[in-house]
Order: sequence, then structure tokens, then C-alpha cells
Amino acid sequence: MQEKVTNPSTRGRGKKFTIDEPFHRKEWVNKNTHLYCGNSLDHYESWKKPKTIVSDGAYGILGFNGDTADHKSIGDWYEGHVDAWSRAATAETTLWFWNSEIGWAAAHPILEKHGWKYVNCNIWNKGVGHIAGNVNTSKIRRFPVVTEVCVQYVFEPKINNLTLQEWLYAEWKRTGLTMKSANEACGVKNAATRKYLDQGHLWYFPPVEIFEKLVNYANLKGDQSGLPYFSNDGIMPMTGEQWSKMRSKFKCPHGYTNVWDRSALRGKERIKIPANISKSAHLNQKPLDLMRLIIEASSDSSDVIWEPFGGLFSASLAARMLGRTSFSAEIDSDYFDLGAQRFSEGFLF
Ligand SMILES: C[S@@+](CC[C@H](N)C(=O)[O-])C[C@H]1O[C@@H](n2cnc3c(N)ncnc32)[C@H](O)[C@@H]1O
Repeated sequence: MQEKVTNPSTRGRGKKFTIDEPFHRKEWVNKNTHLYCGNSLDHYESWKKPKTIVSDGAYGILGFNGDTADHKSIGDWYEGHVDAWSRAATAETTLWFWNSEIGWAAAHPILEKHGWKYVNCNIWNKGVGHIAGNVNTSKIRRFPVVTEVCVQYVFEPKINNLTLQEWLYAEWKRTGLTMKSANEACGVKNAATRKYLDQGHLWYFPPVEIFEKLVNYANLKGDQSGLPYFSNDGIMPMTGEQWSKMRSKFKCPHGYTNVWDRSALRGKERIKIPANISKSAHLNQKPLDLMRLIIEASSDSSDVIWEPFGGLFSASLAARMLGRTSFSAEIDSDYFDLGAQRFSEGFLF
């Protein structure tokens, strides 16, 4: 079987097959799952706005046709996508950015430039079993790598060009009230000034009921010539309901940290090439349990998940298992076909 290669300079080393009898489908849409064969850049505009984006694209390792040869052009590779994600994101959107350490380092400035705020770097530790003890470290002259990163970003909301932290402080100042009176407003000893109006790293997002107390107090007792306070339209103060949508969702299952000890994917879940059940089909297939972890942490039932670089559609499959709505594209028709088959009835993974 001959591999289809369009651009030899970005020819992936991972692809080992083509499908002899492909579906020849351009899409697979079923209930809340939407899988497209094509370039995600051509699809973003028509997808519903996401609560969660799971990015697993170029790594700079020639992992698939179109991957870059090293990290140096990773920023350029991602920029069009990051721009599209930013246009679709709201304050409730979380981005999970999978990559190698250096690939992420190269992409980070582009993500920041387009409004994505770094939250946390999670490490997938595949363990020593991943190298099976046969790495010649004197030859490679470094410690063997058994990790990938999955970095959590949120889309930083701005009001009047201020971050929420800056805006809360600026609005309170505008009322002419003392900073200390914010504690009285919230019915706390000093938590308002210490947490919610802090301008440093001790800042916390005020919970809805605290926000409502600040808003009511400010609008009742603040300088009446400056009304309304805490408004994002200049007409009405923001409601608790609106405030609750000013940040992304996050739930951490008990006992989890930012290091995910989980062996590399093998066994039944690892999709094999059609003609040879001992060869895995995609170099980068991700474990469903890790995809479920991040989707569950950052979204609720029915929320929209984007998987811009589908591969074998692991994030979309996890999303389906969790009752989410998903949109994904895969540019390579063979991967698309094989990935879409995972959703067929009777197919285990
Ligand atoms: C790292 S793999 C994703 C693997 C996937 N997470 C999984 O578990 O199977 C990246 C995939 O993105 C695809 N891809 C690259 N550029 C793309 C684009 N612009 N639009 C859609 N798919 C793209 C590649 O063909 C490759 O299969």
C-alpha cells in the first residue's frame, strides 16, 4: 500500500497504511457527534461555540503528514487555528493543549497573544515502561522522555479592556467608597479586600452571592453620580447569573493532581491498521480516560466540545460517552475513516 503524501517536507513518519475500501464519506454526523473529513480551518465558522477545546495537533516530530519537523515553526502552524478558537471562545471556554514540552513552549506566546490565559501544566507520565529500558542514554545524551503535556488555558474575559481582577477594583474605586467598606458589603471580616479586590496573585474570582452583595452595596451607597456600578453595558449592573458565566467550568475529581500516571496506550483500545492487528494505526492516539478526565473537568452534559485535530477522534468519542455535543475534523481521509468506525454500533472503542 502506497502512502499518500502531498508535501514531502512535512511527511509524517507515523502513517503506515491507507484504507483499500474507504467509506468515501465527507462527514459522519450522528445525534450530537459531528465528524468532518477536511481541514478544521474550513469548518470552525459553522460549528456551535465551544465550552471546551481539545487541541492535539502538530508536535514538531513529523508525527503525521503535515506535522512540522521541529518546534521552530510550531507557532506559525497553530496561529490560524488559535485565532479561530479565540473568535469562537467565551469567558466559559477552556482549552486543553496537548503537546511535547518544547512544542508547548513554542506555541505558548501565540496562545497568549490571542487572549488565552495559562492556568496549569498537566504532565502525562507514561512511566519507565514506555522506554522498556533500552534507551542508549550515552548516545542521546539526555534523560529519556516519557511524558507529554496537556496544558489548561482559559479565555481571559475583558470588560472595558480590563481583566476581571482589574475591573472589580476599578469599579469599587469609582464608587468613592473606602476599600474596607467592601468587607462590610460582603459581610466578611477582611476577605473582600484580601481576596476579591486584591491586585496581586492572591486574587479570587468572587462567588455569585459575594458578587451580588458587592454590586448591591456599590449601587446603593456609592457616589450616585457614577451609577450604574459593575455594569458591562453601562445601563444595568451585571446580575449574578451573568457573572457566573464570566469564567470557565472546572471540577477536579478527588485525589487528582497535575501529574497523570498512566501508561502509554496499548491493548484493545489502541486502534490497529486494517491489514495487521499488531500494528497501531496512529502514532498519537490518546487514551480515552485522559480525554474523559479533561472533558468532564471543564464541561457539563450537552456542552459543546471541539476537537480540531481529530486523528482517531478520541476526544469526540469521550465526549459522546459523556453526553456532550462534539465537533471535529480530520484532514487525512484514512484516519477519518478509521476514526469514524470507532463510533459504529458494536465497535468497542
Ligand atoms: C496528534 S494527531 C491527533 C490524535 C488524536 N488526539 C487521537 O487520539 O487519535 C493530529 C491529527 O490532526 C490531523 N490534522 C492536522 N492538521 C489538521 C487540520 N488542519 N485539520 C484537521 N485535521 C488536521 C492530522 O492528520 C492528525 O491525524
